[in-house]
Amino acid sequence: MKAYKFEVFTNTIEKNIREGVFKPGHKLPSVRELKEQYQTSISTIQNGYEYLMACGLVESVPKSGYYVSNRVEVLNPPQKVNQRPVVRDAIFKHHLGLTTSLRAGRKLSEFNVAAPGDLLIPQKLLLRTMQQIIREQGAGLLRYYPSNGSLELKETIIKRAATHQTILNPDELLITDGALQALFIALLSVCQAGDVIAVESPCVFSVLEVIRVLNLKVIEIPVDPQTGFDVDFLRKACQNNIVKAAIVTPNFHNPTGLLLTNEQKLALLSIAYQYNVALIENDIYGDLNFQGPRPSPIKRFDDSGLVLSYSSCAKTLAPGIRLGWLAAGNYMQRAEQVKFALGGTVSPVYQETVSRLLSGSIYDRHIRAFRMQLAKNAHLTINLLADNFPQGTSMITPAGGYNIWVKMPDDTDITRFYDRCEKVGVRFTPGYTFSFSSTFDKYFRVVFADKFSQKRIDAIKLAAQYS
Ligand SMILES: Cc1ncc(COP(=O)(O)O)c(C=O)c1O
Repeated sequence: MKAYKFEVFTNTIEKNIREGVFKPGHKLPSVRELKEQYQTSISTIQNGYEYLMACGLVESVPKSGYYVSNRVEVLNPPQKVNQRPVVRDAIFKHHLGLTTSLRAGRKLSEFNVAAPGDLLIPQKLLLRTMQQIIREQGAGLLRYYPSNGSLELKETIIKRAATHQTILNPDELLITDGALQALFIALLSVCQAGDVIAVESPCVFSVLEVIRVLNLKVIEIPVDPQTGFDVDFLRKACQNNIVKAAIVTPNFHNPTGLLLTNEQKLALLSIAYQYNVALIENDIYGDLNFQGPRPSPIKRFDDSGLVLSYSSCAKTLAPGIRLGWLAAGNYMQRAEQVKFALGGTVSPVYQETVSRLLSGSIYDRHIRAFRMQLAKNAHLTINLLADNFPQGTSMITPAGGYNIWVKMPDDTDITRFYDRCEKVGVRFTPGYTFSFSSTFDKYFRVVFADKFSQKRIDAIKLAAQYS
């Protein structure tokens, strides 16, 4: 994916701010100065400053110019939780009403559904492309497509992966009915009921649901609020147990929004090699970076076939486009069988639509605008939470995606908080749905994947009064 034009100057400013060379209050060069220096247009410089403001790094003072922000960007991230490697049965007290949208007719302010909101789904683009496809291909769309997916679509996905240095082999690629189906297939390809697998803790409830349905046992591996997935903890777990697989989200983990460095990704891979653990990698948020280049998946570094990587269009286009993919590495033969048994081919209309969108520049244009909007939303939401929730509330500033993981002070009556939010029509995702244990009872997740109307801003302020 191409860099934004403004990165020629924002990268330098950003680096200087993050490394403390430019202190809060430091006056930054004017639009005119930067235009001269970089020989670029005024609108590129203005877009760049807008982007730096969206990231919370810069503030504009009317009639004076741009300054390094006084605001502390990472607000008091939650402390690391102390967990031990315990093998648990996947017994889950889920509350689907709180974790998925019921669209109950009542106008709710929902911050609990991790998918683009109605105003950010590229509706016109998707519907127009679907209509074109139907017009052009007619009855051809009514036949069976290859069970593993259309060749053309697979080639498009392979080309895109190559832009972030990831080489996928067409013989290891399966088109699936969304990311969760890809995960289901991946797990059934590497383990069976009763086996032990490792998962991130916290872990999104839908992934835990799949684990529960497959009757697997789990060891929850803590995700450290500062450093991400606890690699040493995984090593210990593998020393004392036969761990068949680990499910990881190295790029913008849901719910913390953390991004692993390449060193951390390599460390994970080396444990997988040492203990022969299949690494099932969720890359569903990988395209939604706020800054810098699109991060690589772990798959990029794997030459053994032990990594199974999956993604879908649910987070980047629309959750109703039921289309995902799985690069199954060494496990392809079994994955193909499972996929076939689940009903074979994914809807040809979705396959052709996604193939067309991903093969041109249309998707890139959409994603650039979407990422920019998300970066702005993240900044706005963090500030709203920090300004309105009680002292002692802590949170992690996400590096991408659209989730914020919030911890309430220890003395919060969390049940009362949810009850009162529900009464006034505000919904967050409760922390207890992110684990089979009670570790995250005082946490909740806020999704910022829709435009912020005044009503939604007021909803967060109202919820804060009940905390
Ligand atoms: C980590 C993760 N995996 C999978 C899914 C589901 O994706 P899909 O709708 O493509 O099945 C979600 C969204 O809920 C998610 O957050």
